[in-house]
Amino acid sequence: MNVLVTGGAGYIGSHTCVELIEAGHTPIVVDNLCNSSAKSLDRVKTITGKQIMFYEGDVRDEALLEKIFMENELDCVIHFAGLKAVGESVAIPLSYYDNNLCSTMTLCRVMAKHGVKKIVFSSSATVYSGDNEMPLKETSKTGNCTNPYGWTKYMCEQILRDIAKADAQWSVVLLRYFNPVGAHASGMIGEHPNGIPNNLMPFISQTAIGKREKLSVFGNDYDTHDGTGVRDYIHVVDLAKGHVAAIGYAEGNKGEAVFNLGTGTGYSVLDMVKAFETANEIKVPYVIAPRRPGDLATCYADPAKSREVLGWQATLDQTDMCRDTWHWQSKNPNGYDD
Ligand code: NAD
Ligand code: UFG
Repeated sequence: MNVLVTGGAGYIGSHTCVELIEAGHTPIVVDNLCNSSAKSLDRVKTITGKQIMFYEGDVRDEALLEKIFMENELDCVIHFAGLKAVGESVAIPLSYYDNNLCSTMTLCRVMAKHGVKKIVFSSSATVYSGDNEMPLKETSKTGNCTNPYGWTKYMCEQILRDIAKADAQWSVVLLRYFNPVGAHASGMIGEHPNGIPNNLMPFISQTAIGKREKLSVFGNDYDTHDGTGVRDYIHVVDLAKGHVAAIGYAEGNKGEAVFNLGTGTGYSVLDMVKAFETANEIKVPYVIAPRRPGDLATCYADPAKSREVLGWQATLDQTDMCRDTWHWQSKNPNGYDD
């Protein structure tokens, strides 16, 4: 299939381009590079041997989308483009609502006009309400988001659900990611956050390489096996493969469907630190710090529906996640700036 990948130069998008190509599909990327580098797509070419058609620009730019849909026979869209920093979304909510909602609406308008009615959307476990039992099922309660970023995902899900309800030709697949980590085994593509990382794994790997003095472990008095927060970390290559499964599902099914993309296993912050140290034979200095506001004690997926309906499940383990994160970090200490 010819797949428009919005945000395809980013962390998850670039890994998905590799998996799409390896599965015989043709990705076409649109990205404004506000949080990425076009060099990621050059690296995808080195990994796969295939040059990707790339349009640099904003998904809110309807004229640009028109041009892309005119110039390509598209079969479906994977919509990654969006802003994703939770803390920043609290500080500049309008930018988040504008970027994440307007890009989705502009994209769907142009898709409908051109009769391309299959979309896979990057949602997040953050749409689940904090008072659910674990593990989270697709039927667990959503809402009560704790920040504007989470609300943008919640609202985009609703918009897409309503589109599928209004026009039976649409196929809408909502993928709720848990905690993506790791990098391609080649060490050529990976995650390089701007500034001080908010997320655990980039903070661990930047501490290991000496860019950060020590990791702050946010709270050790949660009701978990060692008191630190538990999450469902998923290797980005497994996540990327989930998108290949999702476009296959969209090809054969109409209406709306939602799937968790997680492993179903929760690891604590200290489990991840220890696994990283063991896998890479390197120390990660840390201190115990106060809890981070808004964090839950525990969050992990029930991935049964994805396994049964999409035929997808995660295959890479915690050691793979830690090894591949470090491989990327140590080969590219400054990300794509090297
Ligand atoms: P990323 O920032 O690496 O990738 C997003 C890409 O979208 C970037 O390349 C950015 O330049 C581009 N972009 C942003 N706004 C754009 C716009 N208006 N027009 C064109 N391009 C635009 O982030 P990622 O980690 O690869 O995340 C991809 C998607 O998955 C996002 O929608 C994110 O919210 C969602 N998600 C990520 C996580 C995570 O922990 N990484 C978890 C759940 C959901
Ligand atoms: N943590 C630390 N120290 C750090 C960073 C994180 O102890 O420096 C802890 C957190 O307290 C939490 C765990 O590590 O217990 C994971 O934190 P992350 O920030 O890596 O991830 P979150 O689970 O908070 O959130 C991530 C994404 C969200 C997404 C959510 C669910 O950042 O965008 O997963 O998909 F919504």
